[in-house]
Amino acid sequence: MMFREIIFLLSLGLTVLALCLFVNHFLPLLLNLEVLPRGSFGWPLVGETLRFLSPHASRTLGDFLEEHISKYGKVFKSHLFFSPTIVSCDLELNHFILQNEEKLFQCCYPKPIHGILGKSSMIVVVGETHRRLRNQALALANITRSRTSYVTDIERIALQLMDSWKHKERIVFCEEVRKFAFSVIVKQVLGLSMQEAESAKILEDFLTFMKGLISFPLYIPGTSYARAVQARARISLTVQAIIKERRKNGFDSNKIGDFLDVLLSTNSLSDEEKVSFVLDSLLGGYETTSLLIAMAVYFLGQCPPALNQVKLEHQYIRANLQEAGQDMSLEEFKKMEFTQCVIHEALRCGNIVKFVHRKALSNVRFKEYVIPSGWQVLPIFSAVHLDPSSHADAQMFNPWRWEGQTQIISKSFTPFGGGARLCPGFELAKVEAAIFLHHFVLNYRWRADGEDIPMAYPYVEFPRGMPILINPI
Ligand code: HEM
Repeated sequence: MMFREIIFLLSLGLTVLALCLFVNHFLPLLLNLEVLPRGSFGWPLVGETLRFLSPHASRTLGDFLEEHISKYGKVFKSHLFFSPTIVSCDLELNHFILQNEEKLFQCCYPKPIHGILGKSSMIVVVGETHRRLRNQALALANITRSRTSYVTDIERIALQLMDSWKHKERIVFCEEVRKFAFSVIVKQVLGLSMQEAESAKILEDFLTFMKGLISFPLYIPGTSYARAVQARARISLTVQAIIKERRKNGFDSNKIGDFLDVLLSTNSLSDEEKVSFVLDSLLGGYETTSLLIAMAVYFLGQCPPALNQVKLEHQYIRANLQEAGQDMSLEEFKKMEFTQCVIHEALRCGNIVKFVHRKALSNVRFKEYVIPSGWQVLPIFSAVHLDPSSHADAQMFNPWRWEGQTQIISKSFTPFGGGARLCPGFELAKVEAAIFLHHFVLNYRWRADGEDIPMAYPYVEFPRGMPILINPI
């Protein structure tokens, strides 16, 4: 009896598995045979995910994309992250996808990411909730930009950090610049300086949280994923305590200091959404911005003419500020024209966000293909950034290519995404990078301490953290 039950359960399990495989892997292929772009599904369930994720220099496409593009063209089908997928390395299709958010396509990050970010995170919510949170984010970005301390806060944090290098000959640049980006975002969002106990606590939990985002999503106590979910809960409690404290001390809506003040004065978000909002800003503004600065310094280090031109630009701006006895403001940022070209080129070559996740809401016809309803769609930004038909000599770091261009964000340049989900923090990131570079190039000479190239895992990282030898000027 016992034996027969085991056999029965085993065959039931096998049948269910075979059915799942059929529905997930073979059925999508059979149903959509004629109109699908070419491509291959790879292995059952895992499909081609492992090859898609295999690390490569972030300034290259990687073997997977190179092979697939040359075999099937810029748009191909695959099976990635357990879903039938259309991969787009085509600038027109990428643009079409971004511009049709919520109409034909919808943001769709893998479920485990929802577990970590929480159900109210702007990155995972869709529809009306997304619109409401996003409007709030844009309003916040505007208010932040209009504050007089916006630039001076960033400048002070940069100077404090560089001051701490006074007696050092070698620094691990990515670690340092992460401290900078974290201090800026914690100051902008929560009004905290790094010396305050809450900041250190948030930073510690935040680092655990970040590790979980890129870990295997298994909720078993002790795994990185489980620790990340718990760390998010702790950050949430710390932020709730800060909110409570500020309300207790009599919050004055006429004296807006940081993001949190603005958040507190709004009635259109629940407390849970306010906490998620803070987390989204920390998450969006920390790793990406510090990587941008590291990329700019990395590429400048390899291009002495560009470094010289950046230095001249900043010497001129500094001299003018000193002569007028003024502090740096957004006006100076606007004058950093060549520095902004360097930032754009570092974004193009560095590919901090390689692709974003979407799904098709209905059968979508695009040129000769049909993208089946429910399929995952991955617009690959790096493929367009590195495509010689969009950017001449695409492999070359050439900041001069951006000179005189007024329309920077375009179909062929989408480091901050686009359409209804264009990154709300893109200006903050650029201002932060430019101010950091201002003081760095004026105060330090540097050279790389050994080779370290930015790699796409596909999240981008310098494997050695970019150690550099520094010399005060
Ligand atoms: C170099 C720096 C940055 C890069 C490369 C970057 C890149 C991106 C990209 C590609 C997206 C679109 C995601 C998608 O379409 O699914 C995005 C969205 C977002 N970013 Fe950024 N970002 C940067 C800095 C920042 C900063 C400084 C903040 C916050 C202060 C921020 C907050 C966000 C948020 C909240 C979203 C979600 C927007 C939405 O879904 O409507 N980012 N970012």
